[in-house]
Amino acid sequence: MTGTFDITINKIAKSRVAEYDVNNVPFGKCFSDHMFIAEYADGKWQKAHITPYGDTPLSYAMSALHYGQAIFEGMKAYKNDKGEVSLFRPIENFSRLNKSAIRMAMPEVPEEIFMGGLLELLRLDSAWVPSSDSGSLYIRPFIIATDEAIGVKASETYKFIIITCPAGKYYSEPIKVLVETNYFRAVHGGVGFVKAAGNYGRSLYPTKLAQQKGYQQVIWTDSETHQYVEESGTMNLMFVIGDTVLTPALSDTILSGITRDSVLTLAKDWGMKVEERKISIREVLTAHGNGTLKEAFGCGTAATIAQIIGIGFEGKDYDLPPVEERKFSTKVDEVLRSIRKGKVEDKFNWMMKI
Ligand code: PLP
Ligand code: COI
Repeated sequence: MTGTFDITINKIAKSRVAEYDVNNVPFGKCFSDHMFIAEYADGKWQKAHITPYGDTPLSYAMSALHYGQAIFEGMKAYKNDKGEVSLFRPIENFSRLNKSAIRMAMPEVPEEIFMGGLLELLRLDSAWVPSSDSGSLYIRPFIIATDEAIGVKASETYKFIIITCPAGKYYSEPIKVLVETNYFRAVHGGVGFVKAAGNYGRSLYPTKLAQQKGYQQVIWTDSETHQYVEESGTMNLMFVIGDTVLTPALSDTILSGITRDSVLTLAKDWGMKVEERKISIREVLTAHGNGTLKEAFGCGTAATIAQIIGIGFEGKDYDLPPVEERKFSTKVDEVLRSIRKGKVEDKFNWMMKI
């Protein structure tokens, strides 16, 4: 029983955790023992249960598959030296999931179901949380439309599901990124500011083209002029130019990243100048040319801090300063990790013990 919402729990007969080295598994491929499922029908969330992770029968006609009524979140849990497990800023993910739900005409999930299900699941599967320095349990809450119907309309039934997987580094090396000026990720009035599944599907082809040219990711630019940088892959973008931390201002074409907010909070706390505004690729390359571009990185839950060491633009490659010289992002990375692993004071109350 969690809050006022009952969760039926059907535990796995024998944990599979011993089959894996949870501190050393590829990202997103090995799933923990249990999953949480809540079902929505007749205008309300009905029942919730935790069952062993596994396949579920679903209709090939279900609307999520055809019209993309599907949204998700990405969040992480960490284990400290005492073996205690904590979540990083889970309420932010809860709020953002519901923001996505509203935009996609899907039902919002009540906090007692989101947090109740999540905490119950993590308590059952805490052995799956890596204890290594860069390890964490990646948590994927998502909602899918399950109506068995081909007509284009908002579904009347949904499932809210949480699955989890131990995770190490998403990018093992610093990345080279290509500024994308033909395709775009998001448009004004669209869904770029939410985590709708279709945002990711549409990004794959431009990313594939960039990868064929030797880049790991793209930098998305604005759809109207292609002059202003927005995000990189599935990360928010940050630059240090001179002594200022710069990041594109939030808009309806940019996802409001929780890591982004955490980086900015730390920068301000350390007395750094922070600017959230439009940033043109020309400004970044001019700063590169005159030696004031000190750092460039992407930030996100899966990627944490991903150093950008090269930018490709209009057929030219620009090599960025070596990672060893990047004081700000190195410190941010270390401090975030220390907060998450319970090694320093959690000054901003970001961690929630399970
Ligand atoms: N931008 C996009 C498109 C993303 O998918 C993500 C990942 O969730 C981010 C930014 C970073 O957001 P967060 O730091 O909340 O993970
Ligand atoms: C995240 O950082 O959580 C993401 O959503 C990125 C990706 C794995 C989709």
